[in-house]
Amino acid sequence: AQLNALAKDAGLLYFGTAVSPGDSNDAPYYRLENDIKNFGQYTPDNAQKWDALQPSRGSFSYGAADAIVNRALSNKMLMRCHTLVWYSQLPGWVSSGSWTKDTMTAVMQTHISNVMGHFKGKCYAWDVINEALEDDGSYRNNPFLKALGDSYFALSFKFAAAADATTKLYYNDYNLEYFPVKADGAVRIAKLVQAAGVPIHGVGLQAHMTVGRTPSRANLTWTLNKYTALGLDVAYTELDVRIKPLPSNSSSLQAQAKEYEAIVGSCLDVPRCVGITVWGFGDSHSWIPSTFPGAGDSNLYDKNSKPKPAFSSVSALLASA
Ligand code: G3I
Repeated sequence: AQLNALAKDAGLLYFGTAVSPGDSNDAPYYRLENDIKNFGQYTPDNAQKWDALQPSRGSFSYGAADAIVNRALSNKMLMRCHTLVWYSQLPGWVSSGSWTKDTMTAVMQTHISNVMGHFKGKCYAWDVINEALEDDGSYRNNPFLKALGDSYFALSFKFAAAADATTKLYYNDYNLEYFPVKADGAVRIAKLVQAAGVPIHGVGLQAHMTVGRTPSRANLTWTLNKYTALGLDVAYTELDVRIKPLPSNSSSLQAQAKEYEAIVGSCLDVPRCVGITVWGFGDSHSWIPSTFPGAGDSNLYDKNSKPKPAFSSVSALLASA
Protein backbone atom coordinates (compact mmCIF):
# COMPACT_ATOMS: atom_id res chain seq x y z
CA ALA A 1 0.00 0.00 0.00
CA GLN A 2 2.10 2.87 -1.23
CA LEU A 3 -0.13 5.20 -3.20
CA ASN A 4 2.15 8.21 -2.89
CA ALA A 5 5.26 6.33 -4.00
CA LEU A 6 3.39 4.82 -6.93
CA ALA A 7 1.97 8.23 -7.89
CA LYS A 8 5.43 9.79 -7.83
CA ASP A 9 6.85 7.02 -9.99
CA ALA A 10 3.97 7.68 -12.39
CA GLY A 11 5.02 11.33 -12.68
CA LEU A 12 2.74 13.05 -10.16
CA LEU A 13 4.02 15.20 -7.31
CA TYR A 14 1.86 13.58 -4.64
CA PHE A 15 -1.10 11.41 -3.70
CA GLY A 16 -2.72 12.91 -0.63
CA THR A 17 -5.73 12.98 1.66
CA ALA A 18 -7.86 15.36 3.68
CA VAL A 19 -7.29 15.07 7.42
CA SER A 20 -9.07 16.31 10.50
CA PRO A 21 -7.77 16.99 14.02
CA GLY A 22 -10.42 14.48 15.24
CA ASP A 23 -8.88 11.60 13.28
CA SER A 24 -6.67 10.66 16.23
CA ASN A 25 -9.81 9.57 18.15
CA ASP A 26 -10.10 6.58 15.82
CA ALA A 27 -6.97 4.51 16.31
CA PRO A 28 -7.11 2.20 13.25
CA TYR A 29 -8.00 5.09 10.96
CA TYR A 30 -5.26 7.26 12.39
CA ARG A 31 -2.71 4.48 11.99
CA LEU A 32 -3.62 4.23 8.34
CA GLU A 33 -3.50 8.00 7.90
CA ASN A 34 -0.03 7.99 9.36
CA ASP A 35 1.08 5.34 6.93
CA ILE A 36 2.88 8.10 5.11
CA LYS A 37 3.83 5.69 2.37
CA ASN A 38 0.22 5.94 1.25
CA PHE A 39 -0.16 9.69 1.47
CA GLY A 40 2.41 12.30 0.55
CA GLN A 41 0.17 15.30 1.07
CA TYR A 42 -2.43 16.54 3.55
CA THR A 43 -5.30 18.99 3.22
CA PRO A 44 -7.03 19.99 6.47
CA ASP A 45 -10.73 19.31 5.92
CA ASN A 46 -11.90 22.15 8.18
CA ALA A 47 -8.98 23.39 10.29
CA GLN A 48 -7.86 26.21 7.97
CA LYS A 49 -11.27 27.61 7.16
CA TRP A 50 -12.16 31.18 8.11
CA ASP A 51 -14.41 30.23 11.05
CA ALA A 52 -11.63 28.06 12.47
CA LEU A 53 -8.82 30.59 12.04
CA GLN A 54 -10.47 33.97 12.70
CA PRO A 55 -13.66 33.23 14.64
CA SER A 56 -13.94 36.77 15.87
CA ARG A 57 -12.57 39.83 14.18
CA GLY A 58 -8.85 40.26 14.68
CA SER A 59 -8.43 37.16 16.82
CA PHE A 60 -6.61 34.34 15.08
CA SER A 61 -6.35 30.80 16.35
CA TYR A 62 -3.88 28.45 14.72
CA GLY A 63 -3.42 25.54 17.11
CA ALA A 64 -5.41 22.80 15.35
CA ALA A 65 -4.15 23.73 11.90
CA ASP A 66 -0.56 23.97 13.10
CA ALA A 67 -0.74 20.41 14.42
CA ILE A 68 -1.69 19.11 10.98
CA VAL A 69 0.85 21.23 9.11
CA ASN A 70 3.64 20.25 11.49
CA ARG A 71 2.78 16.55 11.22
CA ALA A 72 2.93 16.81 7.43
CA LEU A 73 6.19 18.71 7.31
CA SER A 74 7.96 16.54 9.86
CA ASN A 75 7.09 13.56 7.63
CA LYS A 76 8.36 15.39 4.52
CA MET A 77 4.85 15.60 3.13
CA LEU A 78 3.33 18.43 1.13
CA MET A 79 0.49 20.61 2.40
CA ARG A 80 -2.39 21.81 0.28
CA CYS A 81 -3.80 24.61 2.39
CA HIS A 82 -7.57 25.15 2.30
CA THR A 83 -9.17 27.75 2.03
CA LEU A 84 -9.20 31.58 2.17
CA VAL A 85 -12.15 33.16 0.35
CA TRP A 86 -15.28 31.00 0.48
CA TYR A 87 -18.96 31.61 1.18
CA SER A 88 -19.26 28.69 3.63
CA GLN A 89 -17.84 28.23 7.12
CA LEU A 90 -17.52 31.98 7.45
CA PRO A 91 -17.92 33.27 11.00
CA GLY A 92 -21.07 35.29 11.61
CA TRP A 93 -19.16 38.54 11.89
CA VAL A 94 -18.19 38.20 8.20
CA SER A 95 -21.33 36.62 6.75
CA SER A 96 -23.79 38.95 8.47
CA GLY A 97 -21.68 42.08 8.54
CA SER A 98 -22.69 44.93 6.27
CA TRP A 99 -19.70 45.73 4.16
CA THR A 100 -18.71 48.44 1.74
CA LYS A 101 -16.13 47.98 -0.97
CA ASP A 102 -13.44 49.45 1.26
CA THR A 103 -14.30 47.66 4.49
CA MET A 104 -14.58 44.28 2.74
CA THR A 105 -11.26 44.88 1.00
CA ALA A 106 -9.66 45.50 4.37
CA VAL A 107 -11.27 42.41 5.90
CA MET A 108 -10.04 40.20 3.04
CA GLN A 109 -6.55 41.65 3.10
CA THR A 110 -6.24 41.20 6.86
CA HIS A 111 -7.43 37.60 6.75
CA ILE A 112 -5.34 36.57 3.76
CA SER A 113 -2.14 38.27 4.88
CA ASN A 114 -2.41 37.07 8.45
CA VAL A 115 -3.23 33.45 7.57
CA MET A 116 -0.83 33.08 4.67
CA GLY A 117 1.83 34.93 6.63
CA HIS A 118 1.43 32.46 9.48
CA PHE A 119 1.88 29.43 7.20
CA LYS A 120 4.38 31.12 4.90
CA GLY A 121 6.69 28.67 3.16
CA LYS A 122 4.79 25.65 4.49
CA CYS A 123 2.04 25.26 1.91
CA TYR A 124 2.76 23.71 -1.45
CA ALA A 125 -0.53 25.25 -2.61
CA TRP A 126 -3.36 27.41 -1.29
CA ASP A 127 -6.99 27.26 -2.37
CA VAL A 128 -7.32 31.03 -2.53
CA ILE A 129 -10.93 31.08 -3.72
CA ASN A 130 -13.28 28.16 -3.23
CA GLU A 131 -16.63 27.49 -4.92
CA ALA A 132 -17.36 30.91 -6.42
CA LEU A 133 -19.57 29.46 -9.16
CA GLU A 134 -23.08 28.10 -9.47
CA ASP A 135 -23.54 24.98 -11.59
CA ASP A 136 -24.79 27.12 -14.50
CA GLY A 137 -21.51 29.02 -14.55
CA SER A 138 -22.85 32.23 -12.99
CA TYR A 139 -21.15 33.74 -9.95
CA ARG A 140 -22.37 32.41 -6.64
CA ASN A 141 -23.67 35.10 -4.38
CA ASN A 142 -21.48 35.65 -1.31
CA PRO A 143 -20.42 38.57 0.88
CA PHE A 144 -17.34 39.17 -1.27
CA LEU A 145 -19.24 39.37 -4.56
CA LYS A 146 -21.86 41.52 -2.87
CA ALA A 147 -19.35 44.11 -1.70
CA LEU A 148 -16.86 44.02 -4.55
CA GLY A 149 -18.47 42.50 -7.62
CA ASP A 150 -16.21 40.36 -9.78
CA SER A 151 -13.19 42.44 -8.76
CA TYR A 152 -12.90 40.19 -5.68
CA PHE A 153 -11.35 37.43 -7.80
CA ALA A 154 -8.21 39.32 -8.80
CA LEU A 155 -8.08 41.10 -5.45
CA SER A 156 -7.97 37.81 -3.52
CA PHE A 157 -5.14 36.48 -5.64
CA LYS A 158 -3.29 39.79 -5.38
CA PHE A 159 -3.39 39.73 -1.58
CA ALA A 160 -2.40 36.06 -1.63
CA ALA A 161 0.60 36.62 -3.90
CA ALA A 162 1.76 39.46 -1.69
CA ALA A 163 1.48 37.32 1.45
CA ASP A 164 3.43 34.26 0.27
CA ALA A 165 5.26 34.20 -3.04
CA THR A 166 6.44 30.62 -2.47
CA THR A 167 3.08 28.86 -2.81
CA LYS A 168 0.87 27.89 -5.76
CA LEU A 169 -2.34 29.89 -5.85
CA TYR A 170 -5.44 27.92 -6.86
CA TYR A 171 -9.06 28.46 -7.77
CA ASN A 172 -10.93 25.37 -6.45
CA ASP A 173 -14.47 24.16 -7.23
CA TYR A 174 -16.74 21.11 -7.66
CA ASN A 175 -18.80 19.85 -10.59
CA LEU A 176 -16.30 21.30 -13.06
CA GLU A 177 -16.00 17.66 -14.13
CA TYR A 178 -19.72 17.39 -14.87
CA PHE A 179 -20.87 20.71 -16.29
CA PRO A 180 -18.99 22.36 -19.18
CA VAL A 181 -20.72 25.69 -18.46
CA LYS A 182 -19.39 25.59 -14.92
CA ALA A 183 -15.94 24.54 -16.14
CA ASP A 184 -16.02 27.55 -18.47
CA GLY A 185 -16.93 29.76 -15.51
CA ALA A 186 -13.65 28.77 -13.89
CA VAL A 187 -11.86 29.59 -17.15
CA ARG A 188 -13.48 33.03 -16.99
CA ILE A 189 -12.34 33.58 -13.41
CA ALA A 190 -8.77 32.51 -14.21
CA LYS A 191 -8.72 34.86 -17.21
CA LEU A 192 -10.02 37.76 -15.11
CA VAL A 193 -7.18 37.24 -12.65
CA GLN A 194 -4.61 36.90 -15.43
CA ALA A 195 -5.94 40.00 -17.20
CA ALA A 196 -5.42 41.98 -14.00
CA GLY A 197 -1.75 41.01 -14.09
CA VAL A 198 -2.10 38.97 -10.91
CA PRO A 199 -0.65 35.46 -10.50
CA ILE A 200 -2.86 32.38 -10.50
CA HIS A 201 -1.11 29.02 -10.78
CA GLY A 202 -3.75 26.35 -10.82
CA VAL A 203 -7.32 25.16 -10.89
CA GLY A 204 -8.38 22.51 -8.40
CA LEU A 205 -11.13 20.14 -9.46
CA GLN A 206 -12.69 18.79 -6.30
CA ALA A 207 -13.99 15.61 -7.98
CA HIS A 208 -16.85 14.79 -5.66
CA MET A 209 -18.24 12.16 -8.03
CA THR A 210 -21.23 9.83 -8.13
CA VAL A 211 -21.06 6.23 -9.33
CA GLY A 212 -22.79 5.89 -12.67
CA ARG A 213 -22.30 9.56 -13.53
CA THR A 214 -18.53 9.97 -13.67
CA PRO A 215 -17.42 11.19 -17.12
CA SER A 216 -15.02 9.06 -19.14
CA ARG A 217 -11.26 9.41 -18.79
CA ALA A 218 -11.16 11.18 -22.18
CA ASN A 219 -13.88 13.65 -21.17
CA LEU A 220 -12.13 14.39 -17.90
CA THR A 221 -8.86 14.96 -19.75
CA TRP A 222 -10.66 17.39 -22.07
CA THR A 223 -11.87 19.38 -19.06
CA LEU A 224 -8.42 19.45 -17.42
CA ASN A 225 -6.97 20.78 -20.66
CA LYS A 226 -9.27 23.82 -20.57
CA TYR A 227 -7.07 25.05 -17.72
CA THR A 228 -3.68 23.84 -18.87
CA ALA A 229 -4.36 25.77 -22.10
CA LEU A 230 -4.24 28.92 -19.94
CA GLY A 231 -0.80 27.96 -18.64
CA LEU A 232 -2.19 26.65 -15.35
CA ASP A 233 -1.55 23.52 -13.32
CA VAL A 234 -4.50 21.32 -12.41
CA ALA A 235 -5.10 18.91 -9.55
CA TYR A 236 -7.88 16.72 -8.22
CA THR A 237 -8.29 18.17 -4.76
CA GLU A 238 -11.16 16.41 -2.93
CA LEU A 239 -11.74 13.11 -4.72
CA ASP A 240 -14.45 10.71 -3.64
CA VAL A 241 -16.98 8.63 -5.62
CA ARG A 242 -20.22 8.07 -3.75
CA ILE A 243 -22.52 5.11 -4.18
CA LYS A 244 -26.31 5.18 -4.13
CA PRO A 245 -28.25 3.12 -3.23
CA LEU A 246 -26.67 1.62 -0.17
CA PRO A 247 -25.68 -0.93 0.83
CA SER A 248 -23.05 -1.12 -1.87
CA ASN A 249 -22.56 -4.52 -3.49
CA SER A 250 -19.88 -6.12 -5.59
CA SER A 251 -21.21 -4.61 -8.79
CA SER A 252 -21.42 -1.03 -7.46
CA LEU A 253 -17.99 -1.42 -5.86
CA GLN A 254 -16.55 -2.61 -9.19
CA ALA A 255 -18.18 0.31 -10.99
CA GLN A 256 -16.69 2.63 -8.38
CA ALA A 257 -13.26 1.10 -8.94
CA LYS A 258 -13.53 1.79 -12.70
CA GLU A 259 -14.59 5.38 -12.08
CA TYR A 260 -11.71 6.05 -9.67
CA GLU A 261 -9.49 4.63 -12.40
CA ALA A 262 -10.90 7.04 -15.02
CA ILE A 263 -10.27 10.03 -12.75
CA VAL A 264 -6.74 9.04 -11.78
CA GLY A 265 -6.06 8.08 -15.41
CA SER A 266 -7.10 11.52 -16.66
CA CYS A 267 -4.60 13.12 -14.30
CA LEU A 268 -1.88 10.83 -15.65
CA ASP A 269 -2.85 11.86 -19.19
CA VAL A 270 -2.26 15.57 -18.51
CA PRO A 271 1.35 16.56 -17.85
CA ARG A 272 0.31 19.58 -15.77
CA CYS A 273 -1.96 17.55 -13.51
CA VAL A 274 0.26 17.70 -10.44
CA GLY A 275 -1.49 15.42 -7.97
CA ILE A 276 -4.54 13.82 -6.48
CA THR A 277 -6.06 14.33 -3.04
CA VAL A 278 -8.83 12.10 -1.70
CA TRP A 279 -11.31 13.75 0.70
CA GLY A 280 -10.66 11.25 3.45
CA PHE A 281 -9.86 7.65 2.63
CA GLY A 282 -12.12 5.50 4.82
CA ASP A 283 -15.87 5.03 4.55
CA SER A 284 -16.14 5.51 8.31
CA HIS A 285 -14.93 9.11 7.93
CA SER A 286 -16.88 10.80 5.22
CA TRP A 287 -18.95 13.93 4.84
CA ILE A 288 -21.22 12.18 2.30
CA PRO A 289 -23.86 10.32 4.41
CA SER A 290 -24.92 13.41 6.34
CA THR A 291 -24.99 15.63 3.24
CA PHE A 292 -26.49 13.16 0.75
CA PRO A 293 -28.75 10.86 2.75
CA GLY A 294 -28.81 7.37 1.28
CA ALA A 295 -25.44 7.76 -0.43
CA GLY A 296 -22.01 6.79 0.86
CA ASP A 297 -19.20 4.24 0.68
CA SER A 298 -17.32 6.81 -1.37
CA ASN A 299 -13.73 6.13 -0.34
CA LEU A 300 -10.79 3.82 -1.04
CA TYR A 301 -11.04 1.90 2.25
CA ASP A 302 -14.19 0.41 3.81
CA LYS A 303 -15.58 1.11 7.28
CA ASN A 304 -13.10 -1.34 8.79
CA SER A 305 -10.16 0.35 7.06
CA LYS A 306 -9.80 -2.53 4.60
CA PRO A 307 -8.83 -1.65 1.01
CA LYS A 308 -11.71 -1.79 -1.49
CA PRO A 309 -11.69 -2.64 -5.21
CA ALA A 310 -11.15 1.08 -5.88
CA PHE A 311 -7.92 0.95 -3.88
CA SER A 312 -6.71 -1.96 -6.02
CA SER A 313 -7.67 -0.31 -9.31
CA VAL A 314 -5.97 2.96 -8.37
CA SER A 315 -2.76 1.28 -7.21
CA ALA A 316 -2.68 -1.03 -10.23
CA LEU A 317 -3.15 1.88 -12.61
CA LEU A 318 -0.45 3.97 -10.93
CA ALA A 319 1.91 0.98 -10.88
CA SER A 320 1.42 0.37 -14.59
CA ALA A 321 1.85 4.02 -15.64
O1 G3I B 1 -17.62 22.44 14.62
C1 G3I B 1 -18.99 22.08 14.78
C2 G3I B 1 -19.24 21.50 16.15
O2 G3I B 1 -18.98 22.49 17.12
C3 G3I B 1 -20.70 21.03 16.24
O3 G3I B 1 -20.91 20.40 17.45
C4 G3I B 1 -20.99 20.03 15.11
C5 G3I B 1 -22.45 19.56 15.12
O4 G3I B 1 -23.05 19.68 13.87
O5 G3I B 1 -20.72 20.66 13.88
C6 G3I B 1 -19.37 21.05 13.73
O6 G3I B 1 -19.21 21.66 12.49
C7 G3I B 1 -19.22 20.78 11.37
C8 G3I B 1 -17.88 20.88 10.67
O7 G3I B 1 -17.91 20.13 9.47
C9 G3I B 1 -16.73 20.39 11.53
O8 G3I B 1 -16.88 19.04 11.82
C10 G3I B 1 -20.34 21.21 10.44
O9 G3I B 1 -21.60 20.97 11.04
C11 G3I B 1 -20.25 20.47 9.14
O10 G3I B 1 -21.20 21.04 8.22
C12 G3I B 1 -18.86 20.61 8.56
O11 G3I B 1 -18.82 19.89 7.35
C13 G3I B 1 -17.70 20.16 6.53
C14 G3I B 1 -18.15 20.79 5.23
O12 G3I B 1 -17.03 21.01 4.40
C15 G3I B 1 -18.87 22.11 5.49
O13 G3I B 1 -18.86 22.96 4.41
C16 G3I B 1 -16.99 18.85 6.24
O14 G3I B 1 -16.46 18.31 7.44
C17 G3I B 1 -15.87 19.09 5.23
O15 G3I B 1 -15.32 17.84 4.85
C18 G3I B 1 -16.44 19.79 4.01
O16 G3I B 1 -15.43 20.01 3.07
C19 G3I B 1 -15.84 20.66 1.86
C20 G3I B 1 -14.64 21.42 1.34
O17 G3I B 1 -14.14 22.29 2.31
C21 G3I B 1 -15.02 22.19 0.08
N1 G3I B 1 -15.59 21.34 -0.91
C22 G3I B 1 -16.71 20.49 -0.46
C23 G3I B 1 -16.30 19.69 0.77
C24 G3I B 1 -17.42 18.76 1.18
O18 G3I B 1 -18.54 19.48 1.60
